[in-house]
Amino acid sequence: MVKVEKNGKKVCVIGLGYIGLPTASMLAIHGFEVIGVDINEKRVEEIKELSFKTTEKDLVTLVRGAINSGNLKVQATPDKADVFIICVPTPCIENNGEKRCDLSYLDKAIENIKPYLEDGNLIIIESTIPPGTTDEIYESLSKDKKVYVAHCPERVLPGNILKELVENDRVIGGVDKKSAEMAKEIYESFVTGEIYLTDAKTAEMVKLMENTYRDVNIALANEFAKISEEIGINVWEAIELANKHPRVNILKPGPGVGGHCISIDPWFIVEKSKNAKLIRTARELNDSMPLFVVEKIKKIIKKDNGKVAIFGVTYKGNVDDTRESPAEKVVGKLMDEGFDVKCYDKYARDFVYPLFNLDEAVDGADIIIVLAEHDEYKNFSEDEMKHIASKVKNKIILDTKNIINRDLWEKAGFKVYVLGDGKNA
Ligand SMILES: NC(=O)c1ccc[n+]([C@@H]2O[C@H](COP(=O)([O-])OP(=O)(O)OC[C@H]3O[C@@H](n4cnc5c(N)ncnc54)[C@H](O)[C@@H]3O)[C@@H](O)[C@H]2O)c1
Repeated sequence: MVKVEKNGKKVCVIGLGYIGLPTASMLAIHGFEVIGVDINEKRVEEIKELSFKTTEKDLVTLVRGAINSGNLKVQATPDKADVFIICVPTPCIENNGEKRCDLSYLDKAIENIKPYLEDGNLIIIESTIPPGTTDEIYESLSKDKKVYVAHCPERVLPGNILKELVENDRVIGGVDKKSAEMAKEIYESFVTGEIYLTDAKTAEMVKLMENTYRDVNIALANEFAKISEEIGINVWEAIELANKHPRVNILKPGPGVGGHCISIDPWFIVEKSKNAKLIRTARELNDSMPLFVVEKIKKIIKKDNGKVAIFGVTYKGNVDDTRESPAEKVVGKLMDEGFDVKCYDKYARDFVYPLFNLDEAVDGADIIIVLAEHDEYKNFSEDEMKHIASKVKNKIILDTKNIINRDLWEKAGFKVYVLGDGKNA
C-alpha cells in the first residue's frame, strides 16, 4: 500500500464520471479520506477492478494509486463526510421547443445525501448549472441543517484532464464568504493555479460565459464556412489570412459543436434571460452544421442515396466521448434519407449507431466523411490509403475538420473536399 499522509478530512464525491473520478482520486492522494459514490453499480465495479475504459492519459495509474493508498473507497451509496462534492450530469432537455438544464440528476444527488448531512458540512456543486441554482440548493438544505454551500465549476479539457485539474485557475462562488473560503481550503490541497473567490451566481455565470464564448466564436467560423461555400472561396485559406491581423483570431469551422459542455451550457443562459439573443442564434447556427454537411455530401456525390463511410463519431479528436456529437446528427439524417452508413471510430467508448472496422466501413463506399479530428486520420500511411482506395467504390473524401494529408490522399487517387472549400463537384 502506498502511504499517503491523512489530513483528517472526509470527502464524499457524488458521481464518478469524467470529472468526479479524477477529482475523487486527486483528493485521495492528497490525504483526504474519500468515498467515491456512483449510482451506477457497473461503474463502481469497473472502477474497483480498474477495468473502466478511458482515453485520459494516466487516469488508471492515478485511480490505482488512490485505491492502493487506502484513501479512496468506491461505492453506490453516500456516507457521512465533512465535505460533499457533486459531479453528476446536467444535460439539456427540450420542453415545447425550448431547451433548458435538466436538474433531475442534481436534485436526486442532493436528496440522496440529505440523510447523511450534519451541521457544519460543506456541499460543493461542480456540475455546470444555470445561475441561481446554488442559492436555491442552499435555501432548501439550510431549512434542516446549518450547512455551507459553494459552486466550483470545472474547466478541464477532456483528453488533458489530469494536468488541467491541477494547473488551471479555479473560480469558487460561495453562498456566503465562509462557504467560498471553506471550499478554497479543499482545492488548494492539489490546485497549483490561482483560486479566485466570488459569489455563487457569479461563479455559475463565469462557467457558462466561458463555454458560450467558445460557442459563439465557433458559430462565426461556421457562418464564414457557409458563406464561403455560397460565394465559392475556401474558408480555411480566408481564415488563415484574416488571422494574420494582429488582433484577429477566428476559430475553425466544423460539422457542429458537441460534447457535454459547449453544445449545451449556452442554453442555461438562454433559459434565464430574454437578452441572450446572440447566444441563441450562435447555438442554432452550430446545431445547423450537421445538416449542412449532409447537403454538401449530396451535392458532391450528386445523388440522394448511396454508401457513406464515416471516420470519427466522437465529439472531438482523440477522446472517447460521443455525447451530443455532431456525427450522431449527420449519421441519423443520412440514414433517414436512405443512405447506407457505416461508421468507423476506434476511439469511441460507445455510439448510438453500430461501429465497424475500417475495412467494413469503407467497403463499397461512395464517399468517406471525416467528422472527428483523431490523430489516426492525420497519419494514415500511403499503403493504408492505397488499401482504402482499393476497397471504396468512388475515391472521394470530404474532410469536415481540414486535417487529412491532402497530397497523399490525392496521390492515392482520391478527390478531396473540405467543408467550406467552396467546391461541390
Ligand atoms: N466532462 C467534462 O469535460 C466536463 C467539464 C466541465 C464541467 N463538466 C460538468 O461536470 C458535470 C459532470 O460531468 P461528467 O462529464 O463527469 O458526467 P458523466 O456522465 O461522465 O458522469 C456523471 C456520473 O454521475 C453518476 N450519477 C448520476 N446521478 C447520480 C447520483 N444521484 N448519485 C451518484 N452518482 C450519480 C453517473 O452514473 C455518472 O457515472 C456536468 O455538469 C458537466 O457539465 C464536465
